Amino acid sequence: MTVVAIDGPAGAGKSTVARTVAAELGFTYLDSGAMYRCVALAALERDASPAAIAPALTISLEDRVLLDGRDVTRAIRAPAVSEGASRAAADPVVREAMVAEQRRLLAHGDWVAEGRDIGTIVAPEAEVKVFLTANPAERARRRAAELGGDEATVLAEQTIRDERDSTRDHAPLAPAPGAVMLDTTGLSLEQTVARVVAMVVALRR
Ligand code: DC
Repeated sequence: MTVVAIDGPAGAGKSTVARTVAAELGFTYLDSGAMYRCVALAALERDASPAAIAPALTISLEDRVLLDGRDVTRAIRAPAVSEGASRAAADPVVREAMVAEQRRLLAHGDWVAEGRDIGTIVAPEAEVKVFLTANPAERARRRAAELGGDEATVLAEQTIRDERDSTRDHAPLAPAPGAVMLDTTGLSLEQTVARVVAMVVALRR
């Protein structure tokens, strides 16, 4: 059983890198941010507080993201949900429920898990920990290209979320002890993936 933890700010390339590394290694991919997004979406739809509803939600993250059985793969990427997810993720009650579910999943099998607190809180025992970064302008450029939208607006919103994610009291975004810092600003996806895969291969020799 091996866990590869990939943490870092939005737009550093975590999702694509984690997904590709998982495919190359035959590991299962865990998108922990999708869980916070599901909480935010449900809270918006029900006009409820994230903490009140998070513990009772059923979230499934196979090929599609299912929230209480409904396909929300696209809906959770809406800008309002990104904003809500950043707020929901600052709530300790929400985090406790999500972390418990993430630990339950990671207990069996080989995983590439991606988020903000995988190496620090969810799976501090992960065999490989990577903290993926890229400079803010580059991250905003990638997000704008991926989601559509204006780069300056994406950069402004990203700065607010980065600040909130890094300064919150509970599980702020920070590299785990022993994490390998990987700046992807000048790297292609292939180069980044190759570096992470090499860490896992080195571990197995
Ligand atoms: O990676 P993402 O953009 O889908 O994450 C959505 C929000 O959830 C983001 O504001 C950070 C937060 N998050 C978190 O606090 N902890 C995680 N393990 C994953 C995401």
